[in-house]
Amino acid sequence: MLTPEENEALCRVGPGTPMGTLLRRYWVPAFQLADLPGPDCAPIKVTILGENFVAFRDTQGRIGFLDELCPHRGASLVLGRVEDCGIRCLYHGWKYAVDGTILETPNLTGSRFTERVKHGSYPVKESGGLGWVYLGPPDTAPPFPIFRWDGAPADEVAVSEMIMDCNWMQVLEGSIDSSHVGVLHLDTLAVMGAGPRNVGSFEFAGDPWDHDMPTPPRGDNPWPSHDNAPVIEVEDTPFGFHYAAVREAADGSGSKYVRITAFVMPYTAFVGGSNGAVIVVPRDDHTCSSFGIFMVPKGRGGSAAANRTGIDRSIWGPEPGNRRMRIPPQDREAMANGQSFAGFRGGNRVQDGAVQMSSGPLYDRAKEHLVPADLAIIRLRRVLADSIRLVDEGKPPLGLGVGYDFARVTAASATIDAETPWQDLVAGNLGTREGTARIST
Ligand code: FES
Ligand SMILES: [Fe+2]
Repeated sequence: MLTPEENEALCRVGPGTPMGTLLRRYWVPAFQLADLPGPDCAPIKVTILGENFVAFRDTQGRIGFLDELCPHRGASLVLGRVEDCGIRCLYHGWKYAVDGTILETPNLTGSRFTERVKHGSYPVKESGGLGWVYLGPPDTAPPFPIFRWDGAPADEVAVSEMIMDCNWMQVLEGSIDSSHVGVLHLDTLAVMGAGPRNVGSFEFAGDPWDHDMPTPPRGDNPWPSHDNAPVIEVEDTPFGFHYAAVREAADGSGSKYVRITAFVMPYTAFVGGSNGAVIVVPRDDHTCSSFGIFMVPKGRGGSAAANRTGIDRSIWGPEPGNRRMRIPPQDREAMANGQSFAGFRGGNRVQDGAVQMSSGPLYDRAKEHLVPADLAIIRLRRVLADSIRLVDEGKPPLGLGVGYDFARVTAASATIDAETPWQDLVAGNLGTREGTARIST
């Protein structure tokens, strides 16, 4: 539980807020590169961290990321013309280069004004199908994190984006929350072949119900544990932390089923067993973009491919380009007759989105009751709060990973014998294993 003040500090992201100041110290994935497909294409409006920007690709293919409103008298540059290595405001024709240089001011001649004034512009990197920007003070920009997807061919990286109508922390906490997986996602586990399972005294038959849902590849035993109260162990790393959710294995051998998540500051989660990450970027205090970046077999990648897969059937509206998540009606009949646990068609992301948005636009954590299974969420809040304090003291925040090879970050899941340290499954992840206290509950 947090005080109302702590909750506000955690959730609000606008300029000058504690969290807003912290988040501006990292590279932010801001938009899909597919939305700027070629030189001089139409510009796009991007809202992140409570501010509005215009992104465009100039004649030479360079991306500009500028404050949205024209510094002359405030028209939106999203309406502008992109031409001849710049973007031109429609109102009086002022024109800007990708670095914010004012190239032309047709209604002002004979002035040296343009030599003194620049429009707000921010550095951009292209990686993993996304455009990443740095909005913080120029002298504190950290090295750009080169993750495993950097430089991969576009057709081997699947990029998706869901815009969700709730505060970003509700979605981010859900992405590092292992103990919900064997409960909320029972319908998904059923399709994957996990068989009958219990939630408390409720006995779920485990017959597949939503046959069309997108799922990870079906395994022999996709969830080899009946233990709904995982022990969470957390360990700090140069990029943030790992946590392992340790469950008793279903085979009764005394082995443990371990799912390891890598949390990369300040909003990225590599989730156990997957080969990519979810990145939760606040658009404003009540809306966020949940980006997914996953490595896929050759020819199966690209933004369009990911946005077209089964998940769009129920998540996105019919209008092209609408990425706002919509929760389908809950099938109460299927729930009542035991066919479905959660009653939502569309797979994990719909099930997750339904509960995350159900807490309202900005949940008041003064009302929660945390349990040991929430340990990773406690650690998440602590590394964020510690980083806010460090920045306030004029020091670098945690998890910048200076000198660390971010391509080594990965997640894992496996059944291992009781004596084997879970850290062995993510050897490439470890940076501070020596001397780092392990916390267990
Ligand atoms: S408002 Fe943009 S040129 Fe005047
Ligand atoms: Fe989930």
